[in-house]
Amino acid sequence: MKDTIHKYFKQQQLLYGNELYFSINPEQSSESILKNDRINTQQELDTFNESICLCMECPLGKTRTNFVFGVGDPNAELLLVGEAPGEPEDLSGEPIVGGAGKMLDKILIAIGKKRGDGVYIANVIKCRPPNNRDPLPSEVDKCEPYLLEQISKIRPKLIVALGRVAGKTLLKLDVPLQEMREKTHDYNGTPLRVTYHPAALLRNSNFKKPCWKDFQWIQGFLGNA
Ligand code: URA
Repeated sequence: MKDTIHKYFKQQQLLYGNELYFSINPEQSSESILKNDRINTQQELDTFNESICLCMECPLGKTRTNFVFGVGDPNAELLLVGEAPGEPEDLSGEPIVGGAGKMLDKILIAIGKKRGDGVYIANVIKCRPPNNRDPLPSEVDKCEPYLLEQISKIRPKLIVALGRVAGKTLLKLDVPLQEMREKTHDYNGTPLRVTYHPAALLRNSNFKKPCWKDFQWIQGFLGNA
């Protein structure tokens, strides 16, 4: 919010110099600032997507059906990052769909959020690795700068890596998920937490309780941020 207001006044200064003009309805104007910011960021993300969606920087470009850029609220305070698209995501072009997507949507609703409203979802790798194998370091090297650019446009308050692979890839830490959980890491200046991938909860329901603990922490963090 602070950044948005700062950006608004900078734009006003560029347009009108040091004279300030106030609307007689301040509530309406702060709403329209947010609306404009949302539209601008969405346009920036769309332009960025168009500039990279034909990427052939690594061999995954040849085998993908769709480049899975990411979806959600362009001004999201929460950015969820998975590892890479699987088959349903490759076919649909949207990250974390299918059973895991439904599970994720339920968790988001439980913390008062929803896909596309305060939340953005992306992957470290934008194209599906064959047979869902883990992304190779060479693929991460080529693709991670795209995620960094998305983050610089969305400016989330918190990044949550979903699953061990996403966590270890972003943090460059080859440790078990348990060692990455319940700690606030730093990802290029943005706080980052690591929790279970929703697909893991479908495979093992014992993960639901600790995952819920993580999301309660996330809800508290965002409530206070
Ligand atoms: N797993 C992920 O990490 N991301 C997807 O988009 C799908 C499955």
